[in-house]
Amino acid sequence: MAIPEVPVRREVRMEAGSTGAGPGPSQEALAAPPVYLDGRFVPAQEARISVFDHGLLYGDGVFEGIRFYNGRIFRLEEHVERLYTSAGAIGLSPPLSPGEMREAILDTAARSGLRAGYLRPLVTRGVGDLGLDPRKSRRPSVIILCAPLTVYESQRQRGIRAVIASVRRPPRVSLDPNVKSLNYLNNILAKSEANLRGVEEALLLDLEGNLAEASGENVFLVRGRTLLTPPAEVCLKGITRSVILELARGVYRAQERPIPAAEIFEADEIFLTGTGAEVVPVVEVEGERIGTGQPGPVTRDLMARYQEITHRSGTPIPYRIRWGDGEVTRDPPKPAPAGRASRG
Ligand SMILES: Cc1ncc(COP(=O)(O)O)c(C=O)c1O
Repeated sequence: MAIPEVPVRREVRMEAGSTGAGPGPSQEALAAPPVYLDGRFVPAQEARISVFDHGLLYGDGVFEGIRFYNGRIFRLEEHVERLYTSAGAIGLSPPLSPGEMREAILDTAARSGLRAGYLRPLVTRGVGDLGLDPRKSRRPSVIILCAPLTVYESQRQRGIRAVIASVRRPPRVSLDPNVKSLNYLNNILAKSEANLRGVEEALLLDLEGNLAEASGENVFLVRGRTLLTPPAEVCLKGITRSVILELARGVYRAQERPIPAAEIFEADEIFLTGTGAEVVPVVEVEGERIGTGQPGPVTRDLMARYQEITHRSGTPIPYRIRWGDGEVTRDPPKPAPAGRASRG
């Protein structure tokens, strides 16, 4: 199905008083789309939060990573729902309703003027004192960042190499993996290990030694025409993971079950899934070739199906917004009906 082209207004203007001149901001920041910050849009290089925000001090907050393609936000409802589930799990009440959050995300995308890109809504605990107690933070902050799309096309075509990280995915009794919190240190340690060992990714095991996920993606093994993926008790219930399971229905068998680490090396194919990464083949783990050592046919098929669905569905971005005094008007105001214009 052909997607109608969405008209894009490129003349995104910054807030009054912002010339972008003066020392400091990098060219990158100057070029970055405006940032939604607690109800206002501000130029990226002027977007600031307090050093007393507990999101900074303790990683106390939650976030989402969302993508838009061809002027449409992919799986917006699911991302908003997961953001509120994550927030609820840590006793954080965003100052916006889910509907208002959805609108703020759409507006951020619209103001970027981009037709494809990445969105990052965050809810931080807000400003508190230097203690841990979240009750001291009275008002959570909402930030929504938008950035142009980074495409890992060559990695996707070639496939990537991975190691098994020495750090483990924390168990659910410590922190539910379905809380997408601002504290990603465990994942960063795994990624650093991959960097040190000269490969692109790290796979994390759970405490029992079963496969959990990658540093920022879910993982699938392919055996024949069966997809195997770890159960959501040990990993983030990725939205891309769910889409892949939907796409596989009726074409491949799929099992969500514990996967002992040894099974990794018996797979015909392995791939990772994530909003940012999309579907990425893994062709080597711990120096061992997976399957033929090339992206396999099932992975390629799902990559193509995923590409197709991301480009043909999603929530349209309302690009026709007006910018004035921090107010967002989606459509030009209607002229007053004739005869009533003189009143008031
Ligand atoms: C730890 C982790 N696992 C899995 C994923 C993939 O989730 P999704 O497909 O919803 O982007 C992410 C993405 O942010 C992640 O951080």
